[in-house]
Amino acid sequence: MMRELSDNILDIAQNSIAARATLIKITVSVSHAANRISLCFEDNGCGMSPEMVQTVAEPFTTSRKTRKVGLGLPFLKQTALMTGGTFDLSSSLGVGTTVCASFGLDHIDRPPLGDVASAFYTLILLNPAVDFLFVYLYDEKRFEFDTRIVRQTIEPLRLDEPEISDWIRENLNQEISLLHGGSFS
Ligand SMILES: Nc1ncnc2c1ncn2[C@@H]1O[C@H](COP(=O)(O)OP(=O)(O)OP(=O)(O)O)[C@@H](O)[C@H]1O
Ligand SMILES: [Mg+2]
Repeated sequence: MMRELSDNILDIAQNSIAARATLIKITVSVSHAANRISLCFEDNGCGMSPEMVQTVAEPFTTSRKTRKVGLGLPFLKQTALMTGGTFDLSSSLGVGTTVCASFGLDHIDRPPLGDVASAFYTLILLNPAVDFLFVYLYDEKRFEFDTRIVRQTIEPLRLDEPEISDWIRENLNQEISLLHGGSFS
């Protein structure tokens, strides 16, 4: 059972990776003014048919062979709606998929955000051939991390080279805790 929104980040990004995306944009946004936390995922993977888009976020839909029931999207949708938030899915075959979920920031049932820096780091480290654009908005503050830029800068080193991945982890940790001004919701 997932407890934190950072677990949803790993889970939903995993769908994009399974869909053979080469670029995944993940936007995390915290707005006290709007009383919202939102997570958006955009990928250039294989996409879904219109029929699939209609049913996939309802329970009991999956293209997995090992299990009959997919849990990722239905669970995300349920958590979002339960906290007074929203859920939107759009997808186009051969083009890609966008999933956005928002959560009521001060809703009693909203899961804690969890360790977003470490979720980002884990995605990069486990998928060094995939590019990620992470955008983190915290009220008026903004942090962006683009593996395409890092990749160019470090060539011919790889993102999963220890000295590079250590730097990535430090950078994500520092920049994200700066945004929060030390306090995590
Ligand atoms: N980004 C995506 N691109 C293409 N297809 C997707 C994407 N996300 C989900 N799907 C399709 O929707 C199905 C359901 O996704 P969901 O995450 O709800 O369950 P699952 O991935 O099948 O199983 P689980 O997440 O529980 O391991 C997937 O099996 C896949 O066919
Ligand atoms: Mg899934």
